[in-house]
Amino acid sequence: MIETKYLGLTLKSPIIVSSGPLTQNIDSLKKCEKAGCGAVVLKSIFEEQIEQDANKELESNSEYLGTSSDESFFLSSNKDFYIDKYMRLLTEAKKELSIPVIASVSAKDMASWIDYADRFIACGADAIELNYYPISSDKKVSGADVDKAAIEFAKVARDRIKAPLSIKIGYKYSSLANMISTFDRIGIDGVVLFNRFFRPDIDIDKLEFTAASAVSGEDEYAEALRWIGLMSGECSFDFCGNTGIHSGESVVKMLLAGAAAVEVCSVIIKRGFSAIGEMNGFLENWMQKHGYGAVSDFRGLLAEERRKDGYNWERTQFLKTIG
Ligand SMILES: Cc1cc2nc3c(=O)[nH]c(=O)nc-3n(C[C@H](O)[C@H](O)[C@H](O)COP(=O)(O)O)c2cc1C
Repeated sequence: MIETKYLGLTLKSPIIVSSGPLTQNIDSLKKCEKAGCGAVVLKSIFEEQIEQDANKELESNSEYLGTSSDESFFLSSNKDFYIDKYMRLLTEAKKELSIPVIASVSAKDMASWIDYADRFIACGADAIELNYYPISSDKKVSGADVDKAAIEFAKVARDRIKAPLSIKIGYKYSSLANMISTFDRIGIDGVVLFNRFFRPDIDIDKLEFTAASAVSGEDEYAEALRWIGLMSGECSFDFCGNTGIHSGESVVKMLLAGAAAVEVCSVIIKRGFSAIGEMNGFLENWMQKHGYGAVSDFRGLLAEERRKDGYNWERTQFLKTIG
């Protein structure tokens, strides 16, 4: 009854456990499935991380390595070690779980991440999620160039990857509407709105760089809700809500705005795997109360296109707050 279709896959629940700490080992993946989620996205494989670790290893082994060709052999076997580890997890997950398993790739170099994706498809990944977030801190690079690079990246991915493909993005584009509809036009199968990235902070007593809390708050879902509400009726691909979805209520809201599914992470970190069952239960009860037999009966009911008035979704200012 709460079944949904996402990236061409049939999910028994619209709740997907997102890429992160809960999807990086087989025991936790099994707990996700047992708790009732519709799919899992494995923790991303990060090219940057592989490179950093490989360089550290290289330093500590430098006395044993004679020539630069020894070094490049060492670096490439180190990379293979990480990719093999990821493929082992993926293969095991496909063997042990009956829900779809999505692989997540985050790489700096286009050629190498497409190579990773091909290998993950060969291991049985049901779809590939691209974790895409360039940080545009170079003042010489214009907004148009940033957009162009993202579109080029998506085009190459679509061309090369012969599997359902989604892209998980942040919301900092000058025209998000244009960006999302371009991804749709290119033939990407879905977009995840929005990733919540690592946030820097400063310890003002120790005068040190620190990390802000990695987990979201339950009021952080509004930006994803706004953009799914605005764009879902305009595009033919799937939308997946992400960030700040901590309750059955917010799952219902995302579906009403037009999402095909939602991804969750922080709510499970905070409340445990039982949060998935509670959200599924809330959705079922809410559908029963409103007389809906299937998610497709109400999905997108409050998307802009059906309302014929985008004002509430587009509104950014608090009018009439004084008086
Ligand atoms: C500790 C931690 C690690 C994460 N690692 C990844 C990752 O490897 N790849 C990715 O796409 N997202 C990663 N995320 C982001 C989550 O998948 C998710 O997009 C984000 O936490 C927002 O969803 P939430 O509000 O339900 O937590 C991570 C999140 C946390 C808290």
